Amino acid sequence: MCGIVGYIGNRNAYPIIIKGLQRLEYRGYDSAGVALYDDGNINVSRTPGKVDDLRAIAASEMTLDGTLGIGHTRWATHGEPNKRNAHPHLSNSGDLVIIHNGIIENYESIKKELIQRGYVFHSDTDTEVLVNLIEEVKKKENVKLGKAVQIALNQVIGAYAIAVFDRTKPDEIVVAKLGSPLAIGIGEDEFFIASDASPFIEYTNNAVYLEDEEMAIIRRGKEIKLRKIKDDRVAYPMVQELQLNLEAIEKNGFEHFMLKEIYEQPHAIRDTFRGRLRADQGLVKMAGVDQHLERFRNANRIIIVACGTSWHAGLVAEYIFEDLARIPVEVEYASEFRYRNPVITDKDVVIAISQSGETADTLAAIKLAKSHGAFVFGVCNVVGSSIARETDAGAYTHAGPEIGVASTKAFTTQITVLTLLALKLAKEAGTISESHFRNMLTEIEAIPGKVERVLESNPEVEHIARAYKDSTNCLYLGRGYNFPVALEGALKLKEISYIHAEGYPAAEMKHGPIALIDEHMPVFVIATRKGHYEKVVSNIQEIKSRKGKIIAVVTEGDEQVRELADHVVEIPETSECLSPLLTTIPLQLLSYHIAVMRGCNVDQPRNLAKSVTVE
Ligand code: F6R
Repeated sequence: MCGIVGYIGNRNAYPIIIKGLQRLEYRGYDSAGVALYDDGNINVSRTPGKVDDLRAIAASEMTLDGTLGIGHTRWATHGEPNKRNAHPHLSNSGDLVIIHNGIIENYESIKKELIQRGYVFHSDTDTEVLVNLIEEVKKKENVKLGKAVQIALNQVIGAYAIAVFDRTKPDEIVVAKLGSPLAIGIGEDEFFIASDASPFIEYTNNAVYLEDEEMAIIRRGKEIKLRKIKDDRVAYPMVQELQLNLEAIEKNGFEHFMLKEIYEQPHAIRDTFRGRLRADQGLVKMAGVDQHLERFRNANRIIIVACGTSWHAGLVAEYIFEDLARIPVEVEYASEFRYRNPVITDKDVVIAISQSGETADTLAAIKLAKSHGAFVFGVCNVVGSSIARETDAGAYTHAGPEIGVASTKAFTTQITVLTLLALKLAKEAGTISESHFRNMLTEIEAIPGKVERVLESNPEVEHIARAYKDSTNCLYLGRGYNFPVALEGALKLKEISYIHAEGYPAAEMKHGPIALIDEHMPVFVIATRKGHYEKVVSNIQEIKSRKGKIIAVVTEGDEQVRELADHVVEIPETSECLSPLLTTIPLQLLSYHIAVMRGCNVDQPRNLAKSVTVE
């Protein structure tokens, strides 16, 4: 977690850093800070809270001049999110200043040694230990900053993306990466450093993404020098042209990123299947699969690893893979899988799903699977992310940047990719008839238009939200393909409105949760016509006879559930396995409106961050 930004060039660094930090707030927003070099001094301002809080105090605390600077927005791991723990951190001499995204696991033993050598610490962070270790190495070995960083990093265990500079050498920034992302934007006689490219997109289209265990020495107006941290080998920067545009990372008139991203889904789903699906020719083309068809063909089973919303997409995929391609599937929380000594063989195909491509547990699960010889296929949204690089092959979702912390378009585009994959494998294995296959392709092509129709129900959903905004508990029920949607609906409500919500398979209700139902309990039920409809109707009746409030997502024209329910939202008819792409939309909108009505910070819910790069 945490976002880092740096600048060295000819412009004033402060506005670039502040704007950049705001774009990275999805990574953490507990505290923020900035350090600028100006006229022989390092000026630092830090504060608990958001980047706006930093902006409000920085001008009164220091001069905002300087063409070299670094900034940080934090998601606390070590130490409370207060001012003293906020980054940047200075070394004891005051000469070195650092920002850090990641965790130094052995910081306590290093700290002890440094204390013995007379170092004093002003924070509880692992980062302050690192900057002082660099200072100690620099003094003891009498080396330049770059070398000192390299030696120090060889002594630490953990993950990091760091940027550090030296007050006595103000034409240079040293950066390094292991486990956390770090991009360097290359302008004319200027360089930008950031956790992703969004902070510098309006200044340059060229970027270098550091690989793990690489560091770079960046000198004002010169070329960047890349080295391997372990053995000092020279590495060569691969300059990539950025595909990002400014519009994609701004709100474009929407009040929140989350709402914008909900509304982007028709477009995002279309972008995800564009070029891969040829309904007219009855073809699914996925380069990452075509090149490794043998591995999929020989797979004994598929293991899906993911966290949070991506795990829910994995559950939907389990139903589709087993239903269409008849391959056994297991879906695992990456955080459990990595620690439970699972049976993995070289006949397994592991699919790792991650929007950010940086989730630490998913990354560790991939490494474990690879070490047992499994073939690992990634489904990521962020191009060039750690998971995308670590997997043997993969398919990107083309959702565009997802900035709201609550995942929305990532979920539907993940399901889209996984459905295409299931169809492709089913066709390969001969487990689907040609006509069913072609119908499915045609049906997928129609999904964006149908999502647009569901979005038209937004005013109705807002009206429903008003009736339930003060609830303290909610139940979400669904069966079959829509059971994971119930889990996802509950997660969306919990994370942005702080209302307790549980998702259940509808039939499980009578094994416990039914005891919770009374006239105060709203129950959101997905009751589409094709998904075990009659059974779900019976569940609805059970709720009604216990006076629960029923809000149902139904297929257009449904009369039976309309009679029973307190509210209904309609979705267009579609095939059962594609229905999650539609049923999830009203639940996203509902959570959004409830959170807004409760005055919650929709895009930056408390305690959360967009990419979870810690265990
Ligand atoms: C929920 C949410 C999280 C993420 C989870 C995995 O709205 O956003 O549950 O889905 O942290 O993140 P990725 O997909 O980036 O691996």
